[in-house]
Amino acid sequence: MRVLVLPGDGIGPEVTTQARRVLERCAELFGFALEFDTAVVGGAAIDQLGEPLPAAALEAAKQSDAVLLGAVGGPKWDDPRANVRPEQALLGLRKELGLFANLRPVKPFPELLDASPLKPEVLRGVDLVVVRELTGGIYFGKPSERRNGPSGREALDTMVYNEHEIARLMRTAFTLAQQRRKRLASVDKANVLSSSRLWREVAHEVRREFPEVAYEDVLVDAMAMHLLRRPRDFDVIATENLFGDILTDEASMLAGSMGLLPSASLGEATNRVGLPRGLYEPIHGSAPDIAGQDKANPLAAILSAAMLLRHSFGQNEAARAIEIAVANVLSQGLRTGDIAQPGCSVVGCEEMGTAVVDALAAVKPGA
Ligand code: IPM
Ligand code: MG
Repeated sequence: MRVLVLPGDGIGPEVTTQARRVLERCAELFGFALEFDTAVVGGAAIDQLGEPLPAAALEAAKQSDAVLLGAVGGPKWDDPRANVRPEQALLGLRKELGLFANLRPVKPFPELLDASPLKPEVLRGVDLVVVRELTGGIYFGKPSERRNGPSGREALDTMVYNEHEIARLMRTAFTLAQQRRKRLASVDKANVLSSSRLWREVAHEVRREFPEVAYEDVLVDAMAMHLLRRPRDFDVIATENLFGDILTDEASMLAGSMGLLPSASLGEATNRVGLPRGLYEPIHGSAPDIAGQDKANPLAAILSAAMLLRHSFGQNEAARAIEIAVANVLSQGLRTGDIAQPGCSVVGCEEMGTAVVDALAAVKPGA
């Protein structure tokens, strides 16, 4: 199996290095073969090659069985007038690889309930997954441009969805709900937006295929509130691209830090073992303020590696082992700076990675 690592910018190289070590250790322990390849994307690729997503990187992604990405972007490339931006790498990969469904699980570790700004009693038992549409909506709709209008400068973006895009996302979300607690909330803004009204209409059609799943429509503004007040009530949350982007940053606070949330982006394309050829990445950004200082939390990248093993390679035991190893390391009291708590030892990115690597052997079933 071939994994393409795209370290990207900022803390991306540091966290993907640790995730790769964890994958290598799993391959040894669980007896499967892994080959790694890397390519440059994002700001690093703009600097080296003049474009954020060089054709070679995209081709390598298409040839791989799964892609592990760190993060892209940084102040160096942030000029709002620039035509070439690191984020285009990410959007290009998602679009070109057809990764329309982005799974973002949020399940706070019991050890970290105090690391969240929310009360532990609100967080206990939270176990939800946001299924975010990833290749449509306002991120990709045309026209998207800046121009001169009668009142001066103006700019516009277009939120557009067709029924096919909505139906496939809803089917993914319903299928996941069926394997979980059988509850699905579809989030939209149907009281204002036409695209949301079509979203809701199609969601209701797809719902008929899944009669055993309890379904509700929730307006996005209300969901922003429910996520803080009663997050335990949600199982699967399906939503369009921009709403999902915003709600998952909010939901990361339930887990205590953005540095803890992994994600999997899946589409229809399959790999050598007949499973989705996914892209796995932490939901956090490149954190330029702490880049290169060995301060980043590698757990989101490491947990993304677990999702990679589960969804793209079918290595469920190894994936589970990573998740248990992470929980064990947290119970031992190791913390990176973002989740530092009184009485715990603050460690760097590499030391955290080493702790997870070392914890794996003990949690391998039969060990
Ligand atoms: C995310 C990020 C990206 C997004 C950015 C970096 C383009 O915020 O993956 O959530 O908006 O999708
Ligand atoms: Mg985001």
